[in-house]
Amino acid sequence: MPRSLSGRNFLKLLDFTTEEIQYLLELSKDFKRLKRTGTPHKYLSGKNIVLLFEKTSTRTRCSFEVAGNDLGMGVTYLDPASSQMGNKESLEDTAKVLGRMFDGIEYRGFDQNIVEDLGRYAGVPVWNGLTTEFHPTQMLADVLTIEENFGRYKGLKMVFMGDARNNVANSLMVVSAKLGINFVACGPKDNMPDEKLVATCREIAKEHDCTITLTDDVKEGTKNADVIYTDIWVSMGEPAELWEKRIKLLSPYQVNDEVMANANPDAIFLHCLPSFHDLETSVGREIHEKFGLKEMEVTDKVFRSPQSKVFDEAENRMHTIKAVMYATLK
Ligand code: CP
Ligand code: NVA
Repeated sequence: MPRSLSGRNFLKLLDFTTEEIQYLLELSKDFKRLKRTGTPHKYLSGKNIVLLFEKTSTRTRCSFEVAGNDLGMGVTYLDPASSQMGNKESLEDTAKVLGRMFDGIEYRGFDQNIVEDLGRYAGVPVWNGLTTEFHPTQMLADVLTIEENFGRYKGLKMVFMGDARNNVANSLMVVSAKLGINFVACGPKDNMPDEKLVATCREIAKEHDCTITLTDDVKEGTKNADVIYTDIWVSMGEPAELWEKRIKLLSPYQVNDEVMANANPDAIFLHCLPSFHDLETSVGREIHEKFGLKEMEVTDKVFRSPQSKVFDEAENRMHTIKAVMYATLK
């Protein structure tokens, strides 16, 4: 059993031991069972949490809200326009005020430093709902989905295709190293995760009998993969002008039939979502008009195939976020 997580922040997975991450995964499974069987679990009734979003969200916000309600807590949502944070009040003051009123604080936004500072000053647990560098709650849902499909995660090969220097790719590399998953970042050479983070992850990976590989070779990278993962090519907070450059750079790393055929026959496809796999979004249509692409990081066919587990993965956001809140607030 890991030491209690009560009172801890959840800012990045580098701060957590393998045992602590495994404990959160076990707890997530328990909460999924309770939810599926309709068993009430208002274990944190009387507590209150606040969700601070400086970027948009569907899954993360709804997961925190539903999980908070299921645990019996009061949930307050603040978007950038409806708080004073950063405009009329410093981050430090905001953290101290919110810490006096709430039992836990979720933050989604920009620099990792912001959420680290919130964690330093709030005096109550702070949870990272995505920063430019990391997306740790997403990782628990991803690994839970992998385990549900293979009955294990240790020793498997997971390949991240595309924008390998973004928050999701960074976090997948960290969680893989901690849990013994062989991780491959497959993308253009000059678009790889930060060298220092790669070195740190390689050190951690050594202790868990797994490897961290960076490659620009799609055939080699995806060969015998168990999990093929991708994410959008331009992340929130990045300028729209980047689309043209990224389309040129990342199109060779699209997840399509060829990629899936090169992976193991029982490989699964994961994506944190949202995804540009058809023309049903305004951004997707705009890109189509400008550059002629109908689908981007993944083809519509792969996205809708039986190998795609993206909606199980999205559901698991809620169960895993519930586990994080419970473990840190109980
Ligand atoms: N995967 C994820 O974080 O989705 P949202 O941006 O909708 O929260
Ligand atoms: N890399 C994406 C992840 C969205 C969940 C972004 O930051 O926009």
